Amino acid sequence: MTAPPLLEINGLRIDLPLDGAARTVVHRADVHITEGAAVALVGESGSGKSLTARSVMGLLPPGARVHGDLLFAGESVPTMTPQRLRAFRASDVAMVFQDPRAHINPARSVGDFLIEGLTTARGAPAAEAVTKVTAILREVGIADAGRRMRQRPHELSGGLLQRVMIAAALAAEPRLLLADEPTTALDVTTQEEVMAIIGETRAARGLALLFITHDLELAAAVCDRVVVMYAGSTVEELPADHLRDSAAHPYTRALLASRPSLGNDTELRSIAGRPLSGFEAPVGCAFGDRCPRVQDLCRGDRPRPRPTGDGTAACHFPHTLSSEEVGRHA
Ligand SMILES: Nc1ncnc2c1ncn2[C@@H]1O[C@H](COP(=O)(O)OP(=O)(O)O)[C@@H](O)[C@H]1O
Ligand SMILES: [Mg+2]
Repeated sequence: MTAPPLLEINGLRIDLPLDGAARTVVHRADVHITEGAAVALVGESGSGKSLTARSVMGLLPPGARVHGDLLFAGESVPTMTPQRLRAFRASDVAMVFQDPRAHINPARSVGDFLIEGLTTARGAPAAEAVTKVTAILREVGIADAGRRMRQRPHELSGGLLQRVMIAAALAAEPRLLLADEPTTALDVTTQEEVMAIIGETRAARGLALLFITHDLELAAAVCDRVVVMYAGSTVEELPADHLRDSAAHPYTRALLASRPSLGNDTELRSIAGRPLSGFEAPVGCAFGDRCPRVQDLCRGDRPRPRPTGDGTAACHFPHTLSSEEVGRHA
């Protein structure tokens, strides 16, 4: 018998209270991460990436309802008691966010922030925590750890502060790191440095990664597998190195075509129409209004994920079908 995946999300649905009514913002997310693997979750703004990642931490907004399976090492996260959830967050998963300043107390020193995470959540003695935090700051490329620990968050650049957040995440010695657009708020050079640090520490520690981004090219460069999300549903899952050759979902193909550096030297083609949020998704395929291959069937019936060979695609007419096969349904 093989071990269960470290993270197994099957048919995740998230309902949130919006204007007094429960609205479905994530319809169907399927994400699997094996121990030590890196998986990217890619999609336009509003597609449900952050909510999917937050559900793994049990960090959804008040009133959220979760359906489907969300298992960490075989254990169901949504049914954890508050006490178990605290222990789980202190040792198994950690999250790095897009905006580090929103997740650190501006009035306390960087050192207090880092050390408190270890002393309160894990019960480590203070001296031991200082030694450990200093070593982890070095690991993320902060050599003058003593000075940085005495500083307040506003004295650090965005890039340095994001390294501090990565250090805080690593201090918990998690098995899975959730990184939600960790470089989006940074300038290009700093983005590359921060991605390199995540890549290096991940490899050195055998850490699994869920990397959230709207950048398909970056996703493929950093991760083993790519999951594409659209309007609250995962629409395709495939190995990162097969992305260009094997992408079967018209949305994935459209995202690839809108990136000139990924093999098409013609002008950048943006996708016609606007992206939808999950709660706006129609009955049928949410991508239907923007899809060049749309047929009547797509309008009435939301496609479920189906095997494509080396992944899955939720599409009635994926690019694995010939144009004659698509035409037969017209
Ligand atoms: N706290 C919240 N209350 C109500 N709606 C929310 C909340 N957080 C997110 N949403 C809605 O859920 C959808 C998905 O959000 P999110 O997961 O943040 O998308 P992404 O990270 O892909 O940009 C969006 O339409 C957003 O407006
Ligand atoms: Mg987000």
